[in-house]
Amino acid sequence: MQCSWKAIILLALASIAIQYTAIRTFTSKSFPMCPVPNPANCSLGLDPTDSPDKLCEDNQLLTSNFSRKIHILILATTRSGSSFLGQLFNQHSDVFYLFEPLYHVQYTLIPKMPQNKSPSDRRVMLGASRDLLRSLYDCDLFFLENYIKPQPVNHTTDKLFRRGASKALCSYPVCDALGPTDIYLEEGDCAKKCNSLNLTLATEACKDHGHMAIKTVRVPEVNDLRALIEDPRLNLKVIQLVRDPRGILASRSETFRDTYRLWRIWRATGRKPYNLDVSQLTMVCEDFINSISTGFSRPPWLKGRYMLLRYEDVARNPMKKMEEIYDFVGIPSDGNVERWILNNTRGDLSSARHKYGTVRNSAATAESWRLTLSYDIVEFTQNACGDVLTQLGYKTVGSSQELRNMTFSLIEDRAFTPFL
Ligand SMILES: *[C@@H]1O[C@H](CO)[C@@H](O)[C@H](O)[C@H]1NC(C)=O
Ligand SMILES: *[C@@H]1O[C@H](CO)[C@@H](O)[C@H](O)[C@H]1NC(C)=O
Ligand SMILES: *[C@@H]1O[C@H](CO)[C@@H](O)[C@H](O)[C@H]1NC(C)=O
Ligand SMILES: *[C@@H]1O[C@H](CO)[C@@H](O)[C@H](O)[C@H]1NC(C)=O
Ligand SMILES: *[C@@H]1O[C@H](CO)[C@@H](O)[C@H](O)[C@H]1NC(C)=O
Ligand SMILES: *[C@@H]1O[C@H](CO)[C@@H](O)[C@H](O)[C@H]1NC(C)=O
Repeated sequence: MQCSWKAIILLALASIAIQYTAIRTFTSKSFPMCPVPNPANCSLGLDPTDSPDKLCEDNQLLTSNFSRKIHILILATTRSGSSFLGQLFNQHSDVFYLFEPLYHVQYTLIPKMPQNKSPSDRRVMLGASRDLLRSLYDCDLFFLENYIKPQPVNHTTDKLFRRGASKALCSYPVCDALGPTDIYLEEGDCAKKCNSLNLTLATEACKDHGHMAIKTVRVPEVNDLRALIEDPRLNLKVIQLVRDPRGILASRSETFRDTYRLWRIWRATGRKPYNLDVSQLTMVCEDFINSISTGFSRPPWLKGRYMLLRYEDVARNPMKKMEEIYDFVGIPSDGNVERWILNNTRGDLSSARHKYGTVRNSAATAESWRLTLSYDIVEFTQNACGDVLTQLGYKTVGSSQELRNMTFSLIEDRAFTPFL
């Protein structure tokens, strides 16, 4: 019986592969292949039934200068402030924003996976994730139907994960409860008042927007996106959001109380549980170090396509960072974004928010982990993630006095200028 667990894993991997192959086969018509060189037309959200020749033969387009659709990916990890960053795109009137569509890939292929569990499981998702992202950036929202359970009927579903986090999906005409002059519904109201999501309407709304942004915490590192970044049919700009791993750990312990129970026991008892799953922390740091090392080494394929952003900098100076972000992606900013920042980053926001809420006093929360983590845990994190802290400019502390002394900040001033 020694080998049986291996057999089970192989079987599981095989079944994932089969499911995935089946999905690919049924949907292979989806994304038109475009022979280079005339990629420009292929990222405009074309009808997938058009033949590739028809899409790409038109040479005059090489010389015409229409503004090209920009595809933004927010590459983040849970509790790093990605909902907040996502809002900076979601609020823009010419950006179609999707919140975490890869959730559906994960729950189809690896239904039991808790937060960031095993590295091999995460790898299993990557091929499927890249295909889905490619299709979504082409405004083919129907591709999602392969992963939504129960499978949508008549291209309609009420099971899209966090639909309400996407302004375009909570506005007229995609939300049928609204008229042309109504403003969009906030997340809770959207879920309650809009009827099932008509994916045909959502696809049209996507095509009506000049640009598209997708947020995900389900891609480990920027190297995993190389195929998409180099894909001439896309015009991908990756914004990697990082955060002090000590802050991530504190925030996750509060938010995912079951999954991070042992960390909270450590904090409460002062004793490190023998069965603590340290990979919940080390995996974050490994992913960060792999990504930022790639970013800092400036390989040609990342030129103009990668921006590194610290959550703490966004929290301290959201308006300035927002401008830098829009400069980098090359889209004119929009008054809605500015208004949203003004309305949502001041203190004194007492109204109740659920755990993924983006609305809070952002600057004050960025270093609040210093008051909640114990020094033991901080020290452990500093040892496990030393490289990341150094590279990203987060100071370590040497005592619990230093840890709790909020008069000096642990965030060094660093400018991570994008590689243009
Ligand atoms: C390519 O895009 C341009 C600009 O949007 C459009 O005018 C043209 O019809 C498109 N060509 C094809 C073959 O779809
Ligand atoms: C191309 O863009 C430039 C700068 O935006 C503009 O001056 C020019 O008129 C455009 N050309 C065409 C053919 O649209
Ligand atoms: C789907 O559309 C068909 C044809 O319009 C209709 O008969 C059927 O009832 C619809 N199914 C559902 C679940 O709405
Ligand atoms: C979804 O919207 C499309 C476009 O308006 C419409 O033709 C279709 O009937 C709608 N589907 C359902 C199930 O209502
Ligand atoms: C500002 O936020 C409040 C509370 O969330 C909301 O009621 C109001 O409509 C917002 N104003 C603007 C201009 O977004
Ligand atoms: C806190 O840090 C500041 C600046 O380093 C220092 O001047 C002050 O004495 C410290 N306070 C305590 C209570 O350690």
